[in-house]
Amino acid sequence: MTVLIIGANGRVGRQLCELAAEAGIDVRAMVRHRAEEPLFQEQGIETVQADLEGDMEHAMDGCDQVVFAAGSGPHTGSDRTLLVDLHGAVRAIQLAEDKGISRFIMLSALRAEDPLTAPEKLRPYMAAKYAADLVLARSAMPHVILAPGRFTDDEEASGLVSTAPEQHHDITISRGNVAQALAVILRRPELVDRRIPLVDGDTPVEQALS
Ligand SMILES: NC(=O)c1ccc[n+]([C@@H]2O[C@H](COP(=O)([O-])OP(=O)(O)OC[C@H]3O[C@@H](n4cnc5c(N)ncnc54)[C@H](OP(=O)(O)O)[C@@H]3O)[C@@H](O)[C@H]2O)c1
Repeated sequence: MTVLIIGANGRVGRQLCELAAEAGIDVRAMVRHRAEEPLFQEQGIETVQADLEGDMEHAMDGCDQVVFAAGSGPHTGSDRTLLVDLHGAVRAIQLAEDKGISRFIMLSALRAEDPLTAPEKLRPYMAAKYAADLVLARSAMPHVILAPGRFTDDEEASGLVSTAPEQHHDITISRGNVAQALAVILRRPELVDRRIPLVDGDTPVEQALS
């Protein structure tokens, strides 16, 4: 069956699509613009054009899992945060439930459950992520919430992570390691109804998620 990757064209999403396709997982990359489709099609990855703020009803048809790796990004205002990170995520969760998706994997953020302790600029984003996570956790749908620390500029995966951020002074992680973790979760259907914090560390990704 097929996995829909929402946010496929993002910096995490692109790496995840590639890793999942390499692992033999059928991936459908959800993109907003037709111009982004060839990048995936050249890798043999199916694409669908859809928008969290527009038409997306069709995107999940024939899929059994969904990964939400989209986001409004750091250069937009709270209006985009509300529409993409909160409302877009909630729409995707509700649509997935309606379509009978067997597992929803949310790319969230470390400490999203405590937005008021975040730096002031990040609080609306953290509040949006927390609310979307709550909607997912309280849905009847099996799910995994991956909560990575702050992304580093280093895209490359070291392949080494930790699920115990409290043991680390530096709570950052490369996007490559996040993509690897999402790919491992996709291969491990027994991982359900869990929130997994994740930072760069010393344990191979596969082992850290076991
Ligand atoms: N930065 C951090 O430190 C950090 C830490 C923890 C978690 N996260 C989460 O990780 C996510 C992924 O990170 P990233 O670096 O890969 O982000 P990114 O490169 O900004 O990618 C975000 C993706 O979301 C898509 N998107 C935005 N609005 C959309 C809409 N209305 N409908 C459909 N797709 C939409 C974008 O599409 P386009 O390509 O068309 O623009 C893009 O592909 C972030 O958004 C954030 O929620 C970030």
